[in-house]
Amino acid sequence: MAKIILTGDRPTGKLHVGHYVGSLRRRVELQNSGEYDEIYIMIADAQALTDNADNPEKVRQNIIEVALDYLSCGLDPAKSTLFIQSQIPQLTELTFYYMNLVTVARLQRNPTVKSEIQLRDFHNSIPVGFFTYPISQAADITAFDATTVPVGEDQEPMLEQAKEIVRRFNYIYGDTLVEPQILLPENKYCLRLPGTDGKAKMSKSLNNCIYLSDSSEEVRKKIMGMFTDPNHLRVEDPGQVEGNPVFIYLEAFSTDEHFRQFLPEYENLQALKDHYSRGGLGDVKVKKFLYAVMEDVLTPIRQRRKEYEKDIPAVLEILRQGSIKAEAKAAATLNRVKQSMRINYFDDQDYLDEQAKKFAEN
Ligand code: TRP
Repeated sequence: MAKIILTGDRPTGKLHVGHYVGSLRRRVELQNSGEYDEIYIMIADAQALTDNADNPEKVRQNIIEVALDYLSCGLDPAKSTLFIQSQIPQLTELTFYYMNLVTVARLQRNPTVKSEIQLRDFHNSIPVGFFTYPISQAADITAFDATTVPVGEDQEPMLEQAKEIVRRFNYIYGDTLVEPQILLPENKYCLRLPGTDGKAKMSKSLNNCIYLSDSSEEVRKKIMGMFTDPNHLRVEDPGQVEGNPVFIYLEAFSTDEHFRQFLPEYENLQALKDHYSRGGLGDVKVKKFLYAVMEDVLTPIRQRRKEYEKDIPAVLEILRQGSIKAEAKAAATLNRVKQSMRINYFDDQDYLDEQAKKFAEN
């Protein structure tokens, strides 16, 4: 069976370093491993509209931001198909048929939807489209016969829902859809990177994100202002590394090579953590090291972004070509689905004959 990747992001803002360690970095590695037959990376504008119906301009403006983030991280249009969700009408058609396979009670149990409803203050005014987006996400995944979906931990319930839909569809209509597997980051610190203020989630409104497109100076300011152990008042005091955002970022980003290059008096992160816990290591020194590490990661990303920014029409053309290619794939799947559901009437000669005969006999 072909190995196929599908994943994507909602274009509601620029992507940040949490997206990078949570999924983007892995996607680029998978792309370059050469182990996958097809790779689809989707800008999920239709899903973004499910809770931004009154602000389509936000979604519209962020499509190019997300595309630039993708390309600057090393996603290569020669290897990965980058496309825009709303340009693939087959996805909505699949969603409509899948809706009959899921109960309202099942959607209400989805933990991600539940917490998003709370976060967005929807109360009793939840848009139906938002409520059903896990179904549309199952359509995104199955339309491309995806075997592998690299995403962050918050997407786990979506993958569960998609698998259930696949099983139910195949049970009722016969083997048609491919069951996807989630691919989570291996490093537990990458599952959910905290904000620079130590809050559990990075969020634009909290102003606690480091964006992939931030300048070197912005990154420096954000890192030097990062929350650390609030009880680590003097350098001599023992500090706490668990739950300390600066150390979580180091767990997510730093390598032994970074130590050799920027902080050779420590062999690795463990040695640095030991010293911090013992006392005698100041926050500023650790933050300066983190800044060097982040710059090592972000500089090539920033440089590639600059190149792509010089030719925005070419970036849009990449998305247009990708969308054409993605539509062809989704159309083939939709045909298969309609055939299995036996609603492909005009391509089904047996059906046409049978109906004619039914009345001829009377
Ligand atoms: N829900 C994802 C997010 O919020 C975006 C998304 C839409 C997606 N459809 C998908 C991710 C299909 C993986 C597979 O970022």
